[in-house]
Amino acid sequence: MTDAIGYELLGDIAVLTAQNPPVNALGYDVRTGLWEGIERAEKDGARAVLIYGDGATFFAGADIKEFGKPPKEPYLPDLCTRIEASPLIVVSSMHGTALGGGLEIALGSHYRIAVPSARMGLPEVLIGVMPGAGGTQRLPRLIGVERSLDIITSGRQIGAREALDLGIIDRIEDGAPRDIGLAYARELLDSGAARRAISEMPAPEPVDFDATYEAVLKKGRGQLSPAVAVRGVQAACELPFAEGMKRERELFMELMATDQRQGLIHAFFAERAVGKLPELEGVDPRPLAELGVIGGGTMGAGIATAALLSGLGVIMLEMSAEAAQAARGRIEGNLQGALKRGKIDQAKFDHLTGTALRLSTDYDALKNADLVIEAVFEDMEVKKQVFGKLDAVCKPGAVLATNTSYLDVNEIAAITARPADVIGLHFFSPAHVMKLLEIVVADKTAPDVVATGFALGKRLGKVSVRAGVCDGFIGNRILATYRTAADHMILDGASPFQIDKALTDFGFAMGPYAVADLAGLDIGWATRKRKRAAGLDPRARDFTYADKLCEAGNFGQKTGKGYYVYEKGKRGGTPNPEVMPLIEADRAAQGITPRDFTDDEIVRRYMAAMVNEAARVVGEGIAKRPLDVDVTLLYGYGFPRYRGGPLKWADMTGLKGLLDDIRSWAALDDYFWQPAPLLEQLVADGRTFDDLNKDAK
Ligand code: COA
Repeated sequence: MTDAIGYELLGDIAVLTAQNPPVNALGYDVRTGLWEGIERAEKDGARAVLIYGDGATFFAGADIKEFGKPPKEPYLPDLCTRIEASPLIVVSSMHGTALGGGLEIALGSHYRIAVPSARMGLPEVLIGVMPGAGGTQRLPRLIGVERSLDIITSGRQIGAREALDLGIIDRIEDGAPRDIGLAYARELLDSGAARRAISEMPAPEPVDFDATYEAVLKKGRGQLSPAVAVRGVQAACELPFAEGMKRERELFMELMATDQRQGLIHAFFAERAVGKLPELEGVDPRPLAELGVIGGGTMGAGIATAALLSGLGVIMLEMSAEAAQAARGRIEGNLQGALKRGKIDQAKFDHLTGTALRLSTDYDALKNADLVIEAVFEDMEVKKQVFGKLDAVCKPGAVLATNTSYLDVNEIAAITARPADVIGLHFFSPAHVMKLLEIVVADKTAPDVVATGFALGKRLGKVSVRAGVCDGFIGNRILATYRTAADHMILDGASPFQIDKALTDFGFAMGPYAVADLAGLDIGWATRKRKRAAGLDPRARDFTYADKLCEAGNFGQKTGKGYYVYEKGKRGGTPNPEVMPLIEADRAAQGITPRDFTDDEIVRRYMAAMVNEAARVVGEGIAKRPLDVDVTLLYGYGFPRYRGGPLKWADMTGLKGLLDDIRSWAALDDYFWQPAPLLEQLVADGRTFDDLNKDAK
């Protein structure tokens, strides 16, 4: 027996205990241990077997770290079949998260019991594969096709209660998983219960699988795994069990070979790696109980909402009693949403909007705050005034944070006598919804202040990425560049609508012009004015169509018109007919003869611009590792997760080809298309961005 599975014989019940921290992933040792455990139980004359997990959880799934390597026997599907075929009564007792292969082991068992807090699911599609150990064959036999399709194609986790109602588990019992499992096995033996093999149940009733496949593919914006999983469930209806298992395996292996699988697994590990930084090792965050927020606009109210929901006390500072009242209204509105969705109950709502939230117009109210975030108007002078006041009133050791999205955090820090306590915490709007948090580390920021930023991010349920100081930090800086590439394509002949379509077909949640309409066209307008005032490089290409839209009062969704026209009550917009004439006027003024762009060409240029700027961001140390860029774009900019992030995508696409393209475009515009030194270096060395991620480990 391997150490990963403990074996005991307690009378006529054999107990197999998984001991593979942290999540009892079903790696080779665990699979071997379970196989040998079942055999030994049969030899030892046991009448029942209990399987449960030591530590935090039942098996949380196959060992993802083994993916992409040659599989080693015993394979997981064979193990589930072996467990099910045992003449002994096999009971799985679940706690923590019984996911993927973990739930499949339980489905291979004859009886299933769980503690009330247990969660289970088949999340394989979320990492680019599908259930591959009988999940698509056994679950539909147990609970029917439609319910199985919901669980398998969404990958969602369900609680023990729902699992009981659906018939996935037989019983819920409070207690230690070992104790409740043993008692259940004893009861089954004493009552003379029979083995129950799901594979022997009748085949489930089919649905229209072709239509389901298409619908799922569309919903996933081209993500293959949920759609291919539908075909697995189809096999459960159409083939005998053993044949269905073979079909499931084939489909699983097909998905395993895709770039999408690589992209999704990269995303899984990257989002766990972003918070692991050498500079934070052994550094304790400062205590956090009370948070100050300055400015109760959309952003400040969103930050306050997230903080309240996480259990922090919040003091919201506003300029006047009226503004404070409006801020309270926004926060309460956000919390109403949480109440409606069942995230909080009425008592919690009353507490959060009552004692947990205080509003004030007096900076003195912030004197006990552990961390203060300003979310005031994006203007350096205004920010400096705020930080001057904070420096005067905040207690020693308080963390002073700015939510600026592009201003120089060093300059803001320098206004205070305590620059080590100053940090940037760049939230994305709406801040109680968007998962990304850029933690902007200035030159003098103390390590425990950085650690406090990450601790706050974790507490608020955010994915936090470390960024250095530059105009736009990681995300907005890269955004500015790929947006510029798109703007150039418009000047040269593409339309905003074609660009948006090409990019949503690529998998982005929205195209850049639909995003601009959502964010408000006045934001880009202000940026362009600021940049022109600072003096544009004579080689930079400029245009007026976007300004003209704004001058006419068209700021996007909030005014009902931007690149698109929005009708009340309708989702999405239709192309605004006023846009193309404005663009054509620019082209005429600049003497440009428009040319056609293919969708592929649009994606290629857009992505090359993104990758090139991302390479600069990494090369300059603004992002410590390529994976930090990937996670930023995934969580803040609607980048398709199944492509892993821009730099993972670049690796899979081939860096040399991208660099060749950039060099060829430089022939016409060598100002915009300057290859990033890091990209050139990687190509010269035959290395990838992912190699840099590995170097950083
Ligand atoms: N295989 C290998 N390693 C795994 C793993 C798996 N299936 N699931 C989690 N881990 C690792 C994580 O990488 C992390 O490692 P680290 O500490 O070195 O960073 C560690 O286990 C803890 O995971 P983490 O996600 O940080 O803990 P959590 O308590 O927040 O969440 C889970 C636990 C199980 C809910 C979550 O990790 C998860 O969803 N795992 C994937 C489950 C899955 O998709 N299973 C199907 C596989 S086919």
